[in-house]
Amino acid sequence: MRTQVGIIGAGPAGLLLSHLLHLRGISSVVLEKRSRDYVERRVRAGVLEQGTVDTLVEAGVGERMKREGLPHHGIELRYGGAGHRIAFERLVPGRSITVYGQQEVVKDLIAARLAAGGDIRFEVEDVAVHSPQSQPYLTFGGQRLDCEIVAGCDGFHGVSRPSIPEGVLSVFERDYPFAWLGILARVAPSSQELIYTRTERGFALHSMRSPTVSRFYLQVPADAREEEWPDERIWAELKARLETVPGFTLTTGEIMEKGVTPMRAFVVEPMQYGRLYLAGDAAHIVPPTGAKGLNLAVADVRVLTEALAAYFERGSAELLDGYSAACLKRVWRAQHFSWWMTTLLHTFEDDDPYARRLQLSYLDYVTSSEAAATTLAENYVGMPW
Ligand code: FAD
Ligand code: DHB
Repeated sequence: MRTQVGIIGAGPAGLLLSHLLHLRGISSVVLEKRSRDYVERRVRAGVLEQGTVDTLVEAGVGERMKREGLPHHGIELRYGGAGHRIAFERLVPGRSITVYGQQEVVKDLIAARLAAGGDIRFEVEDVAVHSPQSQPYLTFGGQRLDCEIVAGCDGFHGVSRPSIPEGVLSVFERDYPFAWLGILARVAPSSQELIYTRTERGFALHSMRSPTVSRFYLQVPADAREEEWPDERIWAELKARLETVPGFTLTTGEIMEKGVTPMRAFVVEPMQYGRLYLAGDAAHIVPPTGAKGLNLAVADVRVLTEALAAYFERGSAELLDGYSAACLKRVWRAQHFSWWMTTLLHTFEDDDPYARRLQLSYLDYVTSSEAAATTLAENYVGMPW
């Protein structure tokens, strides 16, 4: 079997790449170790930057998102007994975010690929990358796929990155001393907009998916286990962290899904080895506070598509050679923003009273200075491509 681009992983990165390449007349095969049902149900991110929304719409896969996604023009920062709105419409006119679940994006992309006769292999076993430096090929479940280019879109725990020889990549990383417990609940959102709240008990986030489904996150210890968090405890803790301003009541309901996500930052440089190109979580992850993970994956894939189009259409490798440098600029901006938002809003066990005062002072600055609020807003809605 032969294809132009062998793609490992059917997450947002791999699926969008396959779709964008198809629009350019470039063939690909996507190899995914999980089932279609599993990837379509995996609950993860929910905030799409303006540029991500535009990309999906331009690529013809934005119909349902335009119908069902929730456009948001601001977020609330809540701390010290008050809420403060970061107003995108005033700070970054014309740019906003859309709340639309990652698994909905994945569903839309899978449907579009299959409708166009795309080749996605689910539940493939033992994918391996061979000779990435010259004539790359992939093996899986006893089969062989020859490719001109391999795209490693298989997330943080995939096989692409580890197939690069030791010493080639520089690794930059940071572990945070806490995790997020995320839940999806069958209950109407208690707020029109997302609420990021900092309390002495820790951080919490109120997000949503639809008029009848809400998404919440709680800062929990790094070693927290789901079993330690029965539903009643989750609601009590969410109430304690969110019902901190006069007149706000959190509506509770059935918890449909629950999971603990470690908080970690990670980048490899370069994002490439020979003819193997890494995109999305395979190359970098951010703590989720800035809602950047999925959006970065989309940004990588945009750059890679242009580079591959130049390569296959004109035989020019110039953009491919610049792929890593082009992506890493945005990656590091997102790394900094995610670190900044995380530091601003979480409680750190070893913080002393001095550090707490600094944190509160910065929150006051962000919520009172137009310049500081604009810094937050322009990064949150996404820097221009
Ligand atoms: P992924 O979505 O991880 O896709 C990789 C795909 O590769 C998967 O389908 C996987 O099954 C497949 N794969 C892995 N190994 C192999 C293999 N050996 N062979 C074949 N296929 C393989 N970001 C936010 O902005 N906000 C959030 O709230 C948020 N929550 C998250 C919660 C969790 C539990 C996780 C893990 C991530 C979260 N993220 C969040 C990050 C965001 O979801 C990711 O940045 C995004 O999924 C990146 O897309 P991707 O396509 O690069 O990787
Ligand atoms: C969501 C996730 C995030 O990480 C974030 O910063 C905002 C919203 C969400 O899943 O809705």
